[in-house]
Amino acid sequence: MRLPFALAKRFVAGETFKAAIPKVQELNQKGIKVSLDLLGENVKDRKTADATTVEYVDLLKGIKDMGLDSNISIKLTMLGLDIDEKYCIDNLNTLLDVAKENGQFIRLDMEGSPYTQRTIDILKQAHAEYPGHVGTVIQAMMHRTKNDIPDLVSVGADVRLCKGAYKEPSNIAIQNMPDIRQAFKGYAKQLLGVTPYPRMATHDDELIQFVLDYTKENGIAKDRFEMQMLYGLRQNTCEELAANGYNVRVYVPYGTMWMPYFTRRLRERKENVWFVVSTLFKK
Ligand code: FDA
Repeated sequence: MRLPFALAKRFVAGETFKAAIPKVQELNQKGIKVSLDLLGENVKDRKTADATTVEYVDLLKGIKDMGLDSNISIKLTMLGLDIDEKYCIDNLNTLLDVAKENGQFIRLDMEGSPYTQRTIDILKQAHAEYPGHVGTVIQAMMHRTKNDIPDLVSVGADVRLCKGAYKEPSNIAIQNMPDIRQAFKGYAKQLLGVTPYPRMATHDDELIQFVLDYTKENGIAKDRFEMQMLYGLRQNTCEELAANGYNVRVYVPYGTMWMPYFTRRLRERKENVWFVVSTLFKK
């Protein structure tokens, strides 16, 4: 049984690209850039992965045709990583050909730990072939991140730093929030020091303030980094940051396969459950 979309609308911009367009335009009008994400993950059959690839190509073209200030975020398991790695890379290259032709950018979201190494390997190969058109995500909670950052930095990869949304065991990831925050701060400093334009993805006041203070104290200009947040969360903060001259990008998910994304948002913050309940009573 499919749950009604009304449940997800607090965090998901619509079930189709068409439905998401006005939300993207509204953000763009406020000086906020977007990363559109067609929801879905862990596709197990080629028919769905093929259809997804076609849908992403249409999305890239639609963004260009509509003149939206948006790149896209994708999950490699949507392109068939669980089916066959070579097939997944072929699908990704189909998208990157379009992105290259249109001057667009594709970010490979980071999924759970079984996919970390493969995502990094695929990113490095794609970055070598399509420089400036592809980047990935690093999760501060993962123990391996201390080695992955220098690895990605050495090839000049474009990196989004986040805490990490997937449940991982203690041998793989830090388990408590103060230590995850500490790790995030260290990696943020590192990325701000050695990469030209890192992306800081968090809604956490302590971390947002840390990035603002650190960049100010160290003379790092506002146009040298980007703050990123998820659609439906901290809209006022995004608008304030943009009004104060910071580069802000909102990750805007859409699509019918919203359940896993929606569940992660509810799990990471109990207040999000109340947001959902209150949304149900709003028109
Ligand atoms: P978290 O949810 O840990 O909250 C910490 C504190 O921040 C709260 O206690 C509260 O004080 C404050 N806060 C949070 N939300 C608030 C709100 N709505 N209003 C007021 N205060 C609030 N993960 C991943 O594994 N792979 C990926 O590719 C990505 N990609 C990604 C892109 C973008 C743009 C973002 C913002 C996030 C991701 N993530 C992700 C998700 C990320 O790893 C993480 O799970 C969530 O961002 C939650 O962590 P936060 O640091 O945002 O705050």
